[in-house]
Amino acid sequence: MKEKINEIEKQFDEDSKNIADLSSLEELRLAYLGKKGKITDLMTYFRVVPAELKKEMGMLVNNLKNHIEESIAEFKQKLADKAVQEEINRAKPFDITLPVDTGVGSLHPRTIIQKQVVDIFSSMGFIIEDGNEIETEYNNFIAVNVPETHPARDMQDTFWLDNGEVLKTQTSAAQNRILRTYGPKCKVLFPGRCFRNEAIDASHENTFFQIEGVVVDENVSVANLIYFMKKMLNGVFKKDINVRLRPGYFPFTEPSFELDASCPFCGGKGCSTCGNSGWIELCPCGMIHPNVLKIAGVDPEKYNGFAFGLGMDRLVMIKSGLDDIRHLNAGEVKLLRQFKTKIN
Ligand code: DAH
Repeated sequence: MKEKINEIEKQFDEDSKNIADLSSLEELRLAYLGKKGKITDLMTYFRVVPAELKKEMGMLVNNLKNHIEESIAEFKQKLADKAVQEEINRAKPFDITLPVDTGVGSLHPRTIIQKQVVDIFSSMGFIIEDGNEIETEYNNFIAVNVPETHPARDMQDTFWLDNGEVLKTQTSAAQNRILRTYGPKCKVLFPGRCFRNEAIDASHENTFFQIEGVVVDENVSVANLIYFMKKMLNGVFKKDINVRLRPGYFPFTEPSFELDASCPFCGGKGCSTCGNSGWIELCPCGMIHPNVLKIAGVDPEKYNGFAFGLGMDRLVMIKSGLDDIRHLNAGEVKLLRQFKTKIN
């Protein structure tokens, strides 16, 4: 038996010299470790080994098996390293004489406008905060007065994770955390990326950006809301913009409004951008619902506030004259570069 073991070991070391690729390695493995391989074969001899030698022989067989397994693993690694090296050798060397695109890039138009909006609000004393992209169902819905059975959930179908959390559908999802952190007297602005299950077309994307604002204090009024929104629009469009409020509906505001801006292009006379109405629908907003305050630990008898959720992509499209939202996520450098001069 001992001789047989030594013989197999020698033979393996000899055979393994001829390994050139993964398939010959696999053949070698099967020849020794496979069901009909030499090691399995050894077991038949093992049965007839006298009892007093069984322990010693068993160890020798095991050692041989380990030796073969380790060698095969080593070969495998060597072959993989060799393949990588060959790939590197095959690759063309980097050619520094090739022409390069020397055009200077620009920030994404969304980034440019977001920065403008952020600057305007921070100059008015707002704290700038960030929200999570993955939110709990509680923050995204329940804390903003949208319980599980609320029909508003339909419009905000989104991407659910296995652990029950969601890719946030709205920047409003951060309201609760922000009010708990800074309330009850605060002015906070929080931009963020949102996600919804949307049929994508020229004006709908499954990934889009909003900027949310909340102001909570004693005796906050709709007049305050109008003041801040007008300041923001004047700053972004660099001219005097009028605003008007129409009634709207959101579960987290009462009353809720749709804020329209007078068309920055025709000054309200009517043009193709505003569909000849003189107004552009811009920003949903309203007075924060007492339930939302209560859930965030703010006493609605003592404090009130307003909130708004500005659709960044829409604002970018209006300001840049872009007619298809899909361009904003497409990473088309040539197209994006044009905005450098267009929207600054
Ligand atoms: N979260 C709303 C949405 O995505 C937008 C919104 C409406 C935000 C009214 C607000 C608000 O803060 O007051 O549809």
